[in-house]
Amino acid sequence: VKTIGVLTSGGDAPGMNAAIRAVVRTALANGLKVKGIRRGYSGLLDEDIVDMEAQSVSDIIQRGGTILYTARSKEFMTTEGQDKAAEICRKHGIDGLVVIGGDGSFRGAADLAVRGINTVCLPGTIDLDIACTDYTIGFDTAVNTAMEAIDKVRDTSTSHERCSIIEVMGRKAGYIALWCGIANGAEDILVTERYDYDEQKIIDKIIERRKAGKKHYIIVNAEGIGDSNNMAKRIEAATGMEARATIIGHIQRGGSPTCIDRVHASAMGAYGVDLLCKGASNRVVGYRDGNYVDYDIKEALAMKKDIDQYLYDVSKTLSR
Ligand code: F6P
Repeated sequence: VKTIGVLTSGGDAPGMNAAIRAVVRTALANGLKVKGIRRGYSGLLDEDIVDMEAQSVSDIIQRGGTILYTARSKEFMTTEGQDKAAEICRKHGIDGLVVIGGDGSFRGAADLAVRGINTVCLPGTIDLDIACTDYTIGFDTAVNTAMEAIDKVRDTSTSHERCSIIEVMGRKAGYIALWCGIANGAEDILVTERYDYDEQKIIDKIIERRKAGKKHYIIVNAEGIGDSNNMAKRIEAATGMEARATIIGHIQRGGSPTCIDRVHASAMGAYGVDLLCKGASNRVVGYRDGNYVDYDIKEALAMKKDIDQYLYDVSKTLSR
């Protein structure tokens, strides 16, 4: 490869900037040119492409968000859109492309790979819902942000002797909920992967714990569980304990990345460029069992993932 393009796509995640910086600097160190593609595949179709130098990525490793912006593109979903995108890559001399995003972004990279553009994907999502990797860029920052927010809710929940239902992000996945639920010592953790919760059981438990002198009751909900505001109303009506719902929301997607996110994003960015330099294409970079690894995109997308049963069992034992 001679020129590497880099883009971020889908929901942003803290650490994406560290990954962009690593891609740019590793590529330059290998004597390659680098082009930043703004606004994901949508920007590629609009030819929103800028040259990147070492200086273009200085002072960004500590910043949340993505300096390249991000978007979702309907046009790119079509065959015509993909043909056009590959043509635009060729026009700009981009023969290697690093895509930072989630599963949907990986599908786009596979579509470009079959059109002759060498592609490598880095897992960038706070949701941790990418099967081929134990870690995704942004998850660590997001769980730390949510954990701190839940600690704060707990303070006021205790003062007012309330039940607090706190909804965290994760789309259909419950990783953020499970990790925060354990880290925050929640009384209940509801995750989409174990959709077996019985609201009556929660109500009985609240009544019982209250009799035993418990001052607060924290429930961490994965966003896929349903309407947390309505759940708070139902619980208040059934238990007599005041209940409030807090939906933490997009605060979880922002902020300065943690050390873990910066370091893994840097290593994955460098690894991705190394793959392209070796002539690889259609690959996803992952982190598994302590090692950086890579998989064929289709193979990676076919993999299945579930929340860690041991962690889930531990969370149940500890939430008393
Ligand atoms: O995938 C990241 C994520 O933050 C999910 O946790 C959430 O469901 C979704 O994106 C929200 O998307 P949007 O920012 O488009 O509302």
